[in-house]
Amino acid sequence: MPTPFFDAVIIGAGAAGLFCAARAGQRGLKVLLIDHADKVAEKIRISGGGRCNFTNRELDVRAPHRHFVGQNPQFCRSALSRYTPQDFIALVQRHGIAFHEKHKGQLFADRSAEDIIAMLLAECADGGVQHWQPCGVKNIVFLADSAEGESDSCYQINTDRGPVQARSLVVATGGLSIPKIGASDFGYRLARQFNLPLVERRPGLVPLTFDGADWAPYAQLAGLALPVEISTGSKKERMAFLEDLLFTHRGLSGPAVLQISSYWQAGQPLAINLAPGLDLPAALAQAKARSKKLIANELAGLVPTRLADAWASTDADWQRPINEASDKALARLAERLARWQLTPTGTEGYKKAEVTLGGVDTRALSQQSMECKSQPGLYFIGEVVDITGWLGGYNFQWAWSSAAACAQAL
Ligand code: FDA
Repeated sequence: MPTPFFDAVIIGAGAAGLFCAARAGQRGLKVLLIDHADKVAEKIRISGGGRCNFTNRELDVRAPHRHFVGQNPQFCRSALSRYTPQDFIALVQRHGIAFHEKHKGQLFADRSAEDIIAMLLAECADGGVQHWQPCGVKNIVFLADSAEGESDSCYQINTDRGPVQARSLVVATGGLSIPKIGASDFGYRLARQFNLPLVERRPGLVPLTFDGADWAPYAQLAGLALPVEISTGSKKERMAFLEDLLFTHRGLSGPAVLQISSYWQAGQPLAINLAPGLDLPAALAQAKARSKKLIANELAGLVPTRLADAWASTDADWQRPINEASDKALARLAERLARWQLTPTGTEGYKKAEVTLGGVDTRALSQQSMECKSQPGLYFIGEVVDITGWLGGYNFQWAWSSAAACAQAL
């Protein structure tokens, strides 16, 4: 039997792979979509607390460096400006999926992330996409002398269901986070097979951890959430976020920490203002002038009570009535709360990370089509590329936009 031949084989039926398959199929191409996991689009299913934060209205396509991290965030400008959040919103509306805006432009499905998956599968069906899942890929061979079609080269993909050949091969296998639902290093290994440069990978949008002994005084705060300003980096390259922080048993999490984790470098300190927008020295001085209450009780009017109690307990000078405290002790308290400096010892790793930073070096790819410059017919889209979005729907928008750019070029 002759080896089945496709215009494009897409590996990875996640956000980018499904969308690319649908759009390529709808252009009339013969497309096969392959995924090794039991279930399609598991990351969409668990995203946004089960409601999928599918894009962000605040994405500024002219300034991608504002919301994307990587060695060259400008790389994503072309794809993002040709398939925008508005385009995806229009698709969601065409499918009658109700959605709402939560916070800072973040759009979520009202009912369930399943609606977004069903929409992508319907779009694939509309494009006549063939879908093999679960189906492992054993290896890939580039056949430079194939006689198929007009092109004289193609890819042979040897799968659990036998070999297939394709004029184009699209790698949409995502990053390394949450291995138990199908994440693998397949895309990076394939990049190496074709001698493409890779940017070092590390977990992003991930909780940060601290040494057990150093963290002991704060572990009692586990579960406490509060708005903070968090920053890292030198003055010139300082990155800051005003978001909620969550204390955990092992360290810090919450949107503020997930966002900063994508910029944090091992060994660097973080600076956290636990009372942003408050003039703490003035507030404490006023309290000293009018109150005889314990410092912790006065502080509880300015920050959450649990934080006030924990903070005051760390210094003998702060465990007395506020009118008896020295100005120096109060100044130190204000400074500690507004400029809490701490150095994480690590992250919770890929088990908890929402994304993988790094990946296929964008210098190896065309920003118009996502095709490898040195390897005709080979494309990388979505998270496997060294483009990582902020928390808030930016990663899915990159998946949709890079997939659309690729599908147009196949
Ligand atoms: P994705 O990971 O979606 O898909 C890759 C596919 O490739 C998977 O189906 C996998 O099984 C398959 N695959 C891997 N190796 C393979 C192999 N060897 N052979 C065959 N198939 C293989 N983003 C956002 O914008 N809004 C949000 O709300 C969230 N929420 C969120 C929550 C959690 C818990 C996580 C972990 C992540 C998010 N994200 C997010 C990030 C978002 O899920 C992610 O960036 C996109 O899913 C990336 O899309 P891709 O298609 O590139 O990879």
